[in-house]
Amino acid sequence: MEKLITKAILPAGGLGTRFLPATKASPKEMLPIVDKPMIQYAIEEARSCGIEEFIIITGKYKRAIEDHFDSAFELEESLKKTGKKKLLEDIRRLNNLSFAYIRQKAAIGLGHAIHCAKPYVKNEPFAVLLSDDIIEPGNSLLKSMINLYKEYDSPILALQKVPLSEISKYGVIDGVREKENVYRINSLVEKPSQSSAPSDMAIIGRYILTPDIFDILDGIGPGKGGEIHLTDALFGLLTKRQIYGYVFTGNRYDAGDKLGYLKATVDLALKNPLISGQFKEYIIEVARGLKN
Ligand code: UTP
Repeated sequence: MEKLITKAILPAGGLGTRFLPATKASPKEMLPIVDKPMIQYAIEEARSCGIEEFIIITGKYKRAIEDHFDSAFELEESLKKTGKKKLLEDIRRLNNLSFAYIRQKAAIGLGHAIHCAKPYVKNEPFAVLLSDDIIEPGNSLLKSMINLYKEYDSPILALQKVPLSEISKYGVIDGVREKENVYRINSLVEKPSQSSAPSDMAIIGRYILTPDIFDILDGIGPGKGGEIHLTDALFGLLTKRQIYGYVFTGNRYDAGDKLGYLKATVDLALKNPLISGQFKEYIIEVARGLKN
């Protein structure tokens, strides 16, 4: 019988080289989009699905993440004294969640980052959210994946159709359409060339995984680019059980990349009730200037 998903792993141990020099000594996952760090969007997305236990994989220069999710006594007192109720609510909003931090000693791949959480996950299924993949807030992607996990009692990967010119940035699946938006996966490959890609269905940063992935990760070595890839472990898991993909059709931003980050910032600012009006006017003004 399928088990409930109560835990999420958020890998945040990567080097963030696409965002240098900003990420030289600060975590990419703490870069703000409008007024919240990227990683908080992922935490809030998981919490909206009932997940309240978080395992964050950190690394060198990532301490700011732990401080962000800690309570802030002095700041809270100061906001209380000055009557800034709304801000107080905002910073307390995540206080009831539980966070554990595991340090990945070297940034040697997403598969390795997930493997670091093995002692904390034990025998339960869990969600994985990559916080630099921003899913438009309010979207039900993770909820749909959890429901699909309950239906199939199998790992579920989020998929998105991407242009072939971008396919070599992703893990890519070969699969059979099971029903609307659902694929049964036959094979997967990490960062294939455009000509060898088995499809245009890329794996994006949301997963529901089962604990047997750890047995595979126990025995896996470096793959493409010398990294330990989650995609390679999932390929190994396919010999033991079925894996399904859920096709996401909403808005996603690869905010680990400068252009994706800027797009996310503009779109989310346009949806933020406190600034959308003035920001829209500014965008129109900039666009007019570009035309002239
Ligand atoms: P990315 O593929 O975006 O890698 O990782 P990166 O190192 O962060 O960034 P670039 O490519 O060098 O610019 C996706 C997620 O997986 C985590 C990252 O922190 C990010 O949240 N990750 C990646 C780890 O936790 N450990 C790793 O060894 C690699």
